[in-house]
Amino acid sequence: MMLSYTLYLFLLLHILPTTTSAVVGGPAYTATDFILLNCGASSDLNDTSGRSWDSDEHTRYAPPNAAAISSISTASPMDPSVFQVPYETARVFHSTFSYSFPVPAGPKFLRLYFYPTTYSTLNASQSFFSVTANGFTLLSNFSTFLNSPSPSEPSFKKEFIINVQENQRLEVTFIPNTNSFAFINGIELVSLPDHLYFKGDHMPIKFVDQLFYLTNETALENLYRLNVGGNDVEIQDDSGMFRAWSQDDDYIFGADFGYTPHAEDLPIKYTDQTPPYSAPEIVYTTSRVMANTSISLEWAFPVDSGFFYLLRFHFCEIQLEVTEQNERVFDVSVDNQPVDVQVDVIYWTGGTKIPIFRDYVVWVINDGRRGKKDLRLSLSPNTLGHPKYNNALLNGLEIFKLSDANRSLAAANPEHTGCSSPSPLALKLPGNKKNKGSSVIYPVMGSLIGILAMVIAICYSRQSIYKHGLSITSRYRTWTTGSSLPLPSDLCRYFSLDEIKTATSMATID
Ligand SMILES: *[C@@H]1O[C@H](CO)[C@@H](O)[C@H](O)[C@H]1NC(C)=O
Ligand SMILES: *[C@@H]1O[C@H](CO)[C@@H](O)[C@H](O)[C@H]1NC(C)=O
Ligand SMILES: *[C@@H]1O[C@H](CO)[C@@H](O)[C@H](O)[C@H]1NC(C)=O
Ligand SMILES: *[C@@H]1O[C@H](CO)[C@@H](O)[C@H](O)[C@H]1NC(C)=O
Ligand SMILES: *[C@@H]1O[C@H](CO)[C@@H](O)[C@H](O)[C@H]1NC(C)=O
Ligand SMILES: *[C@@H]1O[C@H](CO)[C@@H](O)[C@H](O)[C@H]1NC(C)=O
Repeated sequence: MMLSYTLYLFLLLHILPTTTSAVVGGPAYTATDFILLNCGASSDLNDTSGRSWDSDEHTRYAPPNAAAISSISTASPMDPSVFQVPYETARVFHSTFSYSFPVPAGPKFLRLYFYPTTYSTLNASQSFFSVTANGFTLLSNFSTFLNSPSPSEPSFKKEFIINVQENQRLEVTFIPNTNSFAFINGIELVSLPDHLYFKGDHMPIKFVDQLFYLTNETALENLYRLNVGGNDVEIQDDSGMFRAWSQDDDYIFGADFGYTPHAEDLPIKYTDQTPPYSAPEIVYTTSRVMANTSISLEWAFPVDSGFFYLLRFHFCEIQLEVTEQNERVFDVSVDNQPVDVQVDVIYWTGGTKIPIFRDYVVWVINDGRRGKKDLRLSLSPNTLGHPKYNNALLNGLEIFKLSDANRSLAAANPEHTGCSSPSPLALKLPGNKKNKGSSVIYPVMGSLIGILAMVIAICYSRQSIYKHGLSITSRYRTWTTGSSLPLPSDLCRYFSLDEIKTATSMATID
């Protein structure tokens, strides 16, 4: 008996990735390329986060004849709610204009800042233009006016990821429509770790029941980045790439907000598979889980139809009640299609406080004009294996649009409604928000006192054998000794050959 447990633990230790402590002080990633251009500004200025933006007046990134082929202008009227840097000034184009950034090869965030208002006599409602970068069409027949999030939030940024190939520069070109004009308020360029989003050929992404290879020949546009169950995370609190994470409340579908367990001071144990730059700790220490009476967690996200989407789910078990495999098991569905079944975060990570993210690709069928459509996301308990709790969990979510076969990300402008709210379908019930309850799930079996005694005994005896990962492995062992709890055979059932292969290949990356 003892021998088989030891063997089992030995196997586990070799499948589980090693954990590393969170980095103390300083961001997890330091960008090697970092350019902030405040277009139309005459001097360098700092934004509210303390970042210094360069004027684009005498910049080497613009052509030498920039002043002759474009003009600069100040926003007027300037809404007091809009940040002055970089939105108060713009460079306006009546003909094609390119910025050219000499950067080394690799993936880059390209963030374009727009504030649709009036520039000199030019009303942004009359502006339609295209933006291309390194052969990708990022925007086409684009109206900043029609794409403004809301009258109370008129300025916005668009975030893309472009892979700059060897011997390429990053060329960003603005092309006004005939008899129209283009403008830009700010351009941000930030490098990112090579394999953060592009895992290459050795790690294909699940696409329904097929595999999808996301290559560096694809450009991405980020549409949503959510700190699920938490608050907005400012760009300076990201792990070094200035990604903004927003709360998910606006996208919850229906009236069921579940609960939002959080444990801000819990140390998150990053791994080789989930390095500290993946997402800041706050994303993993806040979460949304199902309430007692819920049947699922549901969100709706307006997206452009006719594109593939990359969905990255961030998970981390932080609730004291869930420490073992087969305690919280759920299915993930997108538009009523299952994209993954029997998700067991502890099974994936090997323990609590260990973060993990999983990618899926989905296709959103074209409505004929690449108009908006709601992407519906649903997490619901899977009770086939009789898990301890009927519950589901999510900590973070990123949604990216993938460039199509024509290397385009361009879609139709939204209809002008005067107010395009983030999700017209989402019903907001403010009273239900932020039920930061702690005891949110209830065991279906009790009697843990004897087991607790065993935990202590076993932890103690194992300390000398496994110096690292004690907290993870000792729990496995303890729980498997309880008669009313999953037996090793139940747990072993989960280790299909494919899964072991995946786990081992993931553990060996980097
Ligand atoms: C911008 O911030 C830096 C410190 O980050 C400071 O040294 C500089 O004086 C600031 N510039 C302006 C124009 O406020
Ligand atoms: C710009 O055009 C929009 C839509 O036609 C209009 O509502 C707005 O008042 C105009 N702004 C100015 C400053 O003329
Ligand atoms: C893109 O991928 C190819 C093939 O995997 C590789 O040779 C090339 O270096 C990559 N380019 C960049 C910029 O990462
Ligand atoms: C959840 O259910 C348990 C019993 O299953 C009950 O004791 C508890 O009060 C319920 N909690 C809420 C918030 O409804
Ligand atoms: C690519 O462009 C061609 C020609 O404009 C068009 O017929 C085709 O539908 C486009 N493909 C996609 C995936 O949009
Ligand atoms: C450009 O967008 C406007 C507003 O959505 C639309 O009315 C117009 O038909 C589009 N033009 C082209 C050429 O697609």
